[in-house]
Amino acid sequence: MRQRRLRAGALATGLLAGLGTVVAPSATAAAVDYTAGFESGTSGWTGRGTTGVAVSTDQAHGGSSSLLATGRTANWHGPALDARTVMPAGRYTIEAWVRLVAGTGADTVSLTVARTPDGGAAAYDSVANGVAVTDSGWTRVSGTYEFATTSNSQLELYLESPDATQAFYVDDVRITGETAAPVQPGTTPPVATAFDGGPDGWTARGDATVAHVTAGGRSGGALSVSGRTQTWHGPALDVTPNLAVGRTVEASVWARLAPGSAPAQLTLSIQRDRAGTRTAYENIAGAEVTADAWTRIRGTYTLGSPVDRAQVYVEGTAGAAFLIDDFTLQPFAETPVQDVPALKDVLGAQGFEHVGVALDQRETTGRPAQLVQKHFNAFTPENDGKPESVQPTEGTFTFGNLDRLLDFADATGTQVYGHVLVWHSQTPAWVFQRPDGTPLTNSPADRALLEQRMETHIKAIADHVNARYPDGNSPIWAWDVVNEVIADGDNANPHDMRDSRWFQVLGEGFVDHAFRLADQYFPDAKLFINDYNTEMPEKRADYLGLVSGLIERGVPIDGVGHQAHVDFGRPVQWLDDSLTAVEELSAEKRHPLAQVITELDVSTSTEMASADVNSTGAPRRATPDDAAAGVENGYYYRDLFAALREHSGSIESVTFWGISNARTWLRTWPYPRPWERPLPFDDDLQVTPAYWGVVDPSKLPARPADFLVPRLAAKDPVRVSSTSPAGAEVTFTPPVAGDTRDGVLSPTCTPASGSQFPIGTTRVTCTLTDEAGNQATPGVFDVVVTPPPTTTKLYQRVNNGPVVRANVNQTVQVVVQFGNEGTGTLLGRTFGYSCTQVNAGAAGSTPLTLELAPGSAHTTQRNYPAGQNGNFTLRARPTRTGTAVLDCTLSLQDSLGAQVSTTTRITVDVRK
Ligand code: XIL
Repeated sequence: MRQRRLRAGALATGLLAGLGTVVAPSATAAAVDYTAGFESGTSGWTGRGTTGVAVSTDQAHGGSSSLLATGRTANWHGPALDARTVMPAGRYTIEAWVRLVAGTGADTVSLTVARTPDGGAAAYDSVANGVAVTDSGWTRVSGTYEFATTSNSQLELYLESPDATQAFYVDDVRITGETAAPVQPGTTPPVATAFDGGPDGWTARGDATVAHVTAGGRSGGALSVSGRTQTWHGPALDVTPNLAVGRTVEASVWARLAPGSAPAQLTLSIQRDRAGTRTAYENIAGAEVTADAWTRIRGTYTLGSPVDRAQVYVEGTAGAAFLIDDFTLQPFAETPVQDVPALKDVLGAQGFEHVGVALDQRETTGRPAQLVQKHFNAFTPENDGKPESVQPTEGTFTFGNLDRLLDFADATGTQVYGHVLVWHSQTPAWVFQRPDGTPLTNSPADRALLEQRMETHIKAIADHVNARYPDGNSPIWAWDVVNEVIADGDNANPHDMRDSRWFQVLGEGFVDHAFRLADQYFPDAKLFINDYNTEMPEKRADYLGLVSGLIERGVPIDGVGHQAHVDFGRPVQWLDDSLTAVEELSAEKRHPLAQVITELDVSTSTEMASADVNSTGAPRRATPDDAAAGVENGYYYRDLFAALREHSGSIESVTFWGISNARTWLRTWPYPRPWERPLPFDDDLQVTPAYWGVVDPSKLPARPADFLVPRLAAKDPVRVSSTSPAGAEVTFTPPVAGDTRDGVLSPTCTPASGSQFPIGTTRVTCTLTDEAGNQATPGVFDVVVTPPPTTTKLYQRVNNGPVVRANVNQTVQVVVQFGNEGTGTLLGRTFGYSCTQVNAGAAGSTPLTLELAPGSAHTTQRNYPAGQNGNFTLRARPTRTGTAVLDCTLSLQDSLGAQVSTTTRITVDVRK
């Protein structure tokens, strides 16, 4: 087993409390860089409680002196700084170096800010909690701190220790970050563009043309958009002055397609630009839009970090021409985070150690951050740790967005689930290309290059993390080492591995290689394989087959991830069965395997074939009654968590894919689905039935009538060998079937199991109806019957060959003898013959068509048992001199149905 260090427990103490109700900072920020080295005085530092502080030359981290804190008599005593002028509202990284006085061994210290907003109550915000320190060296104690209250009667930064009398030195305190100038109400003006007098500041993006039209709007004018050749082309508006960090806004626009257009999908998105970080594109909301009526696209957005420029734009189906009207961007009236049991407490008590959520910068401030802190003790970077985010071009690493999330983790004592080291998707094309842009092959040189790139990428991330956390207290507790390596269907390799570029170049061994590198560079992190559709019976078998192989090959794998992008019609039983299967594999192999639910969301759409981010499946609204869908989903969550609790012994983490229904990827992927309600929190971050399904199902509203269709799992082809030309009687197990409400069901399949199946491929169709009469989408699979290997031996011989002489404009005849030199019987009626010229166009060649001569059909009127011969004649009439080289294939079936063929080369030399 791999040895792991445990991370010193860090607990958040209401760090971001109050952000939802206070004035937020604006986008204009100033830099702060404060240092205190205690070389010539105490720099304004004082002692809290009974603490005395004095400059000491006994120890120094930098320079020749430090600040010594003595005389402490309570844990909250310690050296302190009134930071009101140093740190106006904003976001900071704070660090201090600490060393215990000699002879006191080891202890812990915490870095805290006591903050009392004017007229409010004191909050004790943790910057760094319980950091281990010693008397033998200096330890960096650091974290990030963010707050938005502009007037505080107290803002006191201090170090404390649970050992009430511990004396310690402090040196080289540094506070860096950005202040955020206060935003007074009204200074982020709401926007409303009605296009009654002009384009109102909207401009074109990409190839789009935008034009103000005076009529045809919802009332009066509108903005007409045309000429779009790519999805991201469209109208755009600069909203930089209208957004503020930590403030949620509601954006809304109406759209209608040009008359006569087919429906199109349009999405309202935001582009954020900031010097030094990658430009970000974030979806706000989308909808299907038609030519018949105006459709509203509406959603909320929270700016999480300062920007140089922010633009909203409308994008969607390439080529679609449309009108937009009545755009508004205004403050969203946020309901405070509810006082309900925290998911992390409820699930923690049930044995789930990590209760996580996928997030990005939008969730690092304001009310979304409060929700994260209240309910979750872990998170997964939704996109910021993916290969394309971390290394967009070879050798250029962009950690800015990931660092921001690590800051947030540090500041809030949250653990991080790393996502993802090796993946085929959201991975730049250069990874799989040679320096000249040609695709990598599986040649030794190309394989070496790709393996080296894999190592460079993983090592660079590790180096970066280690530099941030020299004490080894990184918040990253686990990694998705490889993601989505198994295909959804049947593939021509042992575990149905996805035919990705990784697989094409390196074969299955790329998975082994990735784990070995991850183990080398992240020895303290738990290493997981991860995939979606792991609950599907066929994919489960492939997934476990691969994991079993990894264990046998001694690959350092710690566990198995189930993305759990499910929908509320997919039987919970299937995931339950997969969790059991992993537990059984672990026992059988005597190899501990943790399990993690990595990306949970429960779609309220009809079945989605796969969660492949490149899929083009077409999930639809499961019911027109969105509220009923929400309630039904609450019951799904109830059953799902009942199943997960049965496996809490092996499940170490449950991560929800998004904090709220407003922030789920399902609302915009693979195309707009505004009806989606997949998560425990709604658009206003209030609890949904899904929340109660997890926390207390007795609070669920009455269940709606059953509108969910039952499900048939996909089934790989059934392959059978026949012993007779009549095919075979084939018995098969029907596809695994079930229903969310009715449990296991049996489908009806035609042809039925036990029927006679002819040689070749026969499609079987299975249907299924639940107790309420809802019908499943029929399931299909193939029965492939192959004949036994032939015992015949077919030959053909060209009597006047191998080189046949011919003359221009005269018919040439070629007599071919053939027969069966083996045993068994070839069937004459299955006779087939064809020639292809192989030297067409070559120097000295002449075009020639060699055909079966009329009358040669007698060869088809009899059978060819052992030793039986026959012959036929081929004819051609050359029109030019030269040589024709042809490959001629004779094919027949034997009496058991096997296809038998032989090819011979005929050269015709045409002279004058
Ligand atoms: C999704 C993100 O949520 C989207 O924002 C992004 O546009 C596409 O990727 N499986 C995974 C995740 O492993 O990385 C995907 O995340 C969802 C499917």
